[in-house]
Amino acid sequence: MENSAAIRMENITKSFGSVVANDAVSFSVNFGEIHALLGENGAGKSTLMNMLSGIYRPDSGSIWIDGKPANITSPGASIRYSIGMIHQHFKLVDVMSALDNVRMGIGRHSGKGRTGRKKAAVEIGKKAESLGLDVNLSKKVYEMSVGEKQTTEIMKVLHRGSRIVIMDEPTAVLTPSEIRKLFDIMRRMKEQGCAIVIITHKLGEVMEISDRITVLRDGRSIDTVVTRETGIPSLIEMMVGRRIDLKIERPATKQGEVLLDFDAVTVVGPDRKVALNDVSFKLREGEILGVAGVAGSGQKELCEAISGLTNAEKGRIFFAGENLIGKKPSEIISLGVRMGFIPEDRLGMGLVGTMDLVGNVMLKDYRDQKGIMLRRDLGAEKARSIVEKFEVLTPSIYTPVAKLSGGNIQKVLLGREIDSDPRLLVTAYPVRGLDIGASFKIYDLLNEQKKKGVGIIFVGEDLDVLIEISDRIMVMSGGVVTGTIDASLASKEEVGFLMAGGDSGGFD
Ligand SMILES: Nc1ncnc2c1ncn2[C@@H]1O[C@H](COP(=O)(O)OP(=O)(O)OP(=O)(O)O)[C@@H](O)[C@H]1O
Ligand SMILES: [Mg+2]
Repeated sequence: MENSAAIRMENITKSFGSVVANDAVSFSVNFGEIHALLGENGAGKSTLMNMLSGIYRPDSGSIWIDGKPANITSPGASIRYSIGMIHQHFKLVDVMSALDNVRMGIGRHSGKGRTGRKKAAVEIGKKAESLGLDVNLSKKVYEMSVGEKQTTEIMKVLHRGSRIVIMDEPTAVLTPSEIRKLFDIMRRMKEQGCAIVIITHKLGEVMEISDRITVLRDGRSIDTVVTRETGIPSLIEMMVGRRIDLKIERPATKQGEVLLDFDAVTVVGPDRKVALNDVSFKLREGEILGVAGVAGSGQKELCEAISGLTNAEKGRIFFAGENLIGKKPSEIISLGVRMGFIPEDRLGMGLVGTMDLVGNVMLKDYRDQKGIMLRRDLGAEKARSIVEKFEVLTPSIYTPVAKLSGGNIQKVLLGREIDSDPRLLVTAYPVRGLDIGASFKIYDLLNEQKKKGVGIIFVGEDLDVLIEISDRIMVMSGGVVTGTIDASLASKEEVGFLMAGGDSGGFD
């Protein structure tokens, strides 16, 4: 007997007003398979999957789950079809514990009161163990790292008995070691017979974890291929429809004055642990300083110390002759310091979903907002410029940002900072969640700023990119700088050695 597919979608079409997000898409996934869904920002990936999770309903086309026609009218119905989705933007309740989040919304099976709770905890603990998941069920969501939140989302989905699990960009905000863990979990879920869909823009990950790949472009399905019969160049061609230049420039610029002088700065974290220990470096105008290090080596505190979000315990931070320590974030912004971050919670921070692009651009534009007169025409001009430069896919600048695709929301967020005549740009993981073309566009735009004399701090995780784009690379480990090297002479091995602590690793 032929095994029926876990998911079969035939000729699915879904429009939002004049935007055709999915145009006669067909897609199928088997049990015991990890299937990657690929495509540029706005290609229609999340929309297609949201029709399985009951958030949207197709305009036309049909869906079969486990061989039977399915009518997924609501998120509740989706759960009854044994489908679980981990969304691009998490949906956990911050003030609740992992256990309560996992149990939320299961209703009748959960069992009431204390005993029900205890029973559930045991059951969830067992399931977690079988998958090698590390969960502390009593931890509150607001105390969790992104990796822990992800694990909680996975537990929630599995506790509902989902055998079809959809993960929308689960790795975008995870550290490399968290990604390793997630992939192990996914492999175990696959062995246990689950059907898994993963959306990611990182092609190396797609090649590593998936069995088959479906590529969407402009809302249409281009092809489904077997992973071991394809390669990254042909995936890019399917996604983009043309060849693209994957070279990052390192333009030689005349480096000007010292712009930022970070002088023996020590930052102590809220847990009283030393997060930055006597860190010193200088950044010149027209220079890109790459910052490398495993997650949690002090990069976050470095950025926060510059932006005024964290106060340094000791040291001085001179920017264009003024000490930034003790200044408010708004004062620092008005000096021309910009933070080009992709926050972990993309919609929760920095943008207002219900507001249009114009409003969001104006939110942060301190310089042009003289007094209480908000110049909406200036905002519109700037929104237009961002849409054009960053190729933001949106029906208009008056569309609420929540209606844009994940990657396009990020382009607005980043564009607002980069495109604001900064003198110093501090950017951390700027291309998270961006497709490959958009990522290279960001590198070009950073270089454009550099040529204008802007000083740039680029905190990154992709060493190939850091080595190509930076002038110098500063490596951090455990809150100290373990080395600073000329990027044109740097090798990945050398950076890796310094990331592991360099000379001081193991001694002390
Ligand atoms: N609720 C909505 N209202 C209006 N337009 C929408 C809505 N949801 C999605 N769209 C549009 O549909 C298209 C596809 O969006 P979708 O979120 O599916 O893209 P995606 O492939 O997931 O992209 P990304 O990689 O950026 O997350 C985009 O043009 C987007 O703006
Ligand atoms: Mg998406």
